[in-house]
Amino acid sequence: MTIGLSRRGRRLAASPPFPEYILENMARSGAVYDPVENPGGFVPLAVAENLRLGSLLLERMAAVREAPARILAYDTMIGSDEFRARLARFLGRKVLGRAPRPEHVAVLAGAGSVLEILFHCLGDPGDGVLVPTPSYAGFWADLETRDELALVQVPTTSADGFRLTPDRFDRAMRIAGRPVKALLFTSPNNPLGTVYSAAEIEEVLGWARDAGIHVVFDEIYALSVFGERPFTSCAQVAGELGDSVHVVWAFSKDFGASGLRCGVLVSENEELLRAVDGLAYWACCSGHTQHVLGEVIADDAWIDDYVSRVQTVLGDAYRSVTAALEKAGIPYFPAQAGFFLLLDLRRHLAAHSWQAEEDLWRRILEEANVNLTPGSACRNAEPGLLRLCFASVPAETVVVGVRRLADVLSRA
Ligand SMILES: Cc1ncc(COP(=O)(O)O)c(C=O)c1O
Repeated sequence: MTIGLSRRGRRLAASPPFPEYILENMARSGAVYDPVENPGGFVPLAVAENLRLGSLLLERMAAVREAPARILAYDTMIGSDEFRARLARFLGRKVLGRAPRPEHVAVLAGAGSVLEILFHCLGDPGDGVLVPTPSYAGFWADLETRDELALVQVPTTSADGFRLTPDRFDRAMRIAGRPVKALLFTSPNNPLGTVYSAAEIEEVLGWARDAGIHVVFDEIYALSVFGERPFTSCAQVAGELGDSVHVVWAFSKDFGASGLRCGVLVSENEELLRAVDGLAYWACCSGHTQHVLGEVIADDAWIDDYVSRVQTVLGDAYRSVTAALEKAGIPYFPAQAGFFLLLDLRRHLAAHSWQAEEDLWRRILEEANVNLTPGSACRNAEPGLLRLCFASVPAETVVVGVRRLADVLSRA
């Protein structure tokens, strides 16, 4: 007789919460494109990472020579006092527009852990969380796997410029068929790369206040803005966050450091922070990482220079990929932030269906060895809008990917 797993253990083993495009990415990442060594190699354009400035950050991290002995010991599970104080100052200067109190900052192992634990404390199994779509694909795994929440989509479409209006939120609330506890709003948006105006943020805040639900702003791309419109944090618009507005940020995107696993929650709700602290032990950020990142963000001159370089590099990357797309005649929706844009491949679908989108995605993968993010993963309202991420590989590699993509499309 074998001793089996729990029901939930068996469920996870049978269907891990990772979508197909992520599994393909991992499987193919050992043989990536190289113009000399591997000209037919894999071109990964499906995962949102900015790896263009990695050497700069590594250099600054390497300059942090001394680590105090206390980093070897247990410390506050939601981040050391010193790191949270430094984060409060850094976030105030660069992200939130005003410094939060250090005790209103909690640190965990990446934005994914922050979201998972935060929503565990905001909703009970079966409760609903509103998410505007197109959306970051990972929210479903983050909030449904262990928290057992149900994401309720607030759909927007290309036909109306992906505009979010209060009546769309109202409608989603009406048809949710379950108690809705929160709205999860990504600003700047992934995958659209939209930067929201202060007026739009005010509208979202006002709607959530009137609806009597929490609102979580995922501002993980706050510094990765390359368009005309500057980023505005909800913290700037709201003034006080109060008990129902919460902000998530991480080093994963703006610092191109998703492997360091360092995410941040800013909330003024002290009961919520105590609840988050109760689970933090299982998702801590390492003391060493906190120390090194703390030294980096305390260096104002370096940070100011780094952030301006990030924005320049992303602007260049965006102009390079859009020039290649235009040359190849592939339409896309313009972006102002992030490392991605949505391609409009609707005219290449064999039918107006999700199956046809999957077939096209698979064809591009098999024939061009290029991985895009399927629109279905972003819960798009219409098939055929696939996401292209343009900053995880060098510009020349992205251009090779676009050329190969155009080749497949010319036959689709
Ligand atoms: C909007 C958004 N939130 C959260 C995450 C997850 O970030 P982390 O790697 O810090 O868990 C991502 C990653 O792509 C994202 O795009």
